Amino acid sequence: MSSLAKDITPPSSGAPMVKAEGVHKSFGLSHILKGIDLEVLPREVFCLIGPSGSGKSTFLRCINHLEKISAGRLYVDGHLVGYRQHGDKLYELKEKEVAAQRRDIGMVFQRFNLFPHMTALENVMEAPIQVKRESRATARERAQRLLDRVGLGDRAGHYPSQLSGGQQQRVAIARALAMQPKLMLFDEPTSALDPELVGEVLDVMRDLAEDGMTMIVVTHEMGFAREVGDSLVFMDDGVVVESGHPRDVLTNPQHDRTKSFLSKVL
Ligand SMILES: Nc1ncnc2c1ncn2[C@@H]1O[C@H](COP(=O)(O)OP(=O)(O)OP(=O)(O)O)[C@@H](O)[C@H]1O
Ligand SMILES: [Mg+2]
Repeated sequence: MSSLAKDITPPSSGAPMVKAEGVHKSFGLSHILKGIDLEVLPREVFCLIGPSGSGKSTFLRCINHLEKISAGRLYVDGHLVGYRQHGDKLYELKEKEVAAQRRDIGMVFQRFNLFPHMTALENVMEAPIQVKRESRATARERAQRLLDRVGLGDRAGHYPSQLSGGQQQRVAIARALAMQPKLMLFDEPTSALDPELVGEVLDVMRDLAEDGMTMIVVTHEMGFAREVGDSLVFMDDGVVVESGHPRDVLTNPQHDRTKSFLSKVL
């Protein structure tokens, strides 16, 4: 398979790809994120684990500004997410500017959300044509290459209903890559799949990591975290409890909350 190198937008600065400083998020009276500090370096595979309700999805949604943070600072590739800073004042970006920031971030969810009336190829072509105003020929050429890359070159003309869950999820990954992101966010990309289909999706993610994509992966796949992850964070109740190299955290957790969580999932 070919490398994805030309489909990855390189970071524009020497800054961390993602930097969170004291990030808080509340929904009404519920305080969900309670001061998240972390850094994700370019080309890093950064795994995020933690119990249900600990705020993992909320944090990912803050990174591409689907949710607005309540306090703190969040940067992607050296730029504040959703704001511009002048002196010590913050100004909210216009929706168009937020959309431009979001374009550089690919997101893959548990549910694939492919357009059911479009073929795999058309699903992958859609955003570059609609959002980037690319020509159909350019979009088609890249879409075919990306489908080849995720092992589905021969399924380009299939509709989502004619594909397995694992194949649909690989199309969803190709669709996110079609926007040539500099960062990919995965929110439990394999948890809706039958066990025998998990491996093919993790293989694609492993290839992507080898090609140098910066990835934040919320996952319950501890084997993937251990083998592919460069960093791992255990989150509970809106705080980072423990972080480090996946092998260290998984085999030698320091905190009781981490130990208790791992004893249930490992
Ligand atoms: N839009 C919202 N409005 C109100 N509360 C919300 C909203 N989104 C999330 N929450 C709450 O925030 C908390 C964290 O949710 P989140 O989805 O981030 O957890 P999670 O760690 O991803 O859990 P899971 O492993 O089950 O996916 C939950 O208590 C949830 O109910
Ligand atoms: Mg979640």
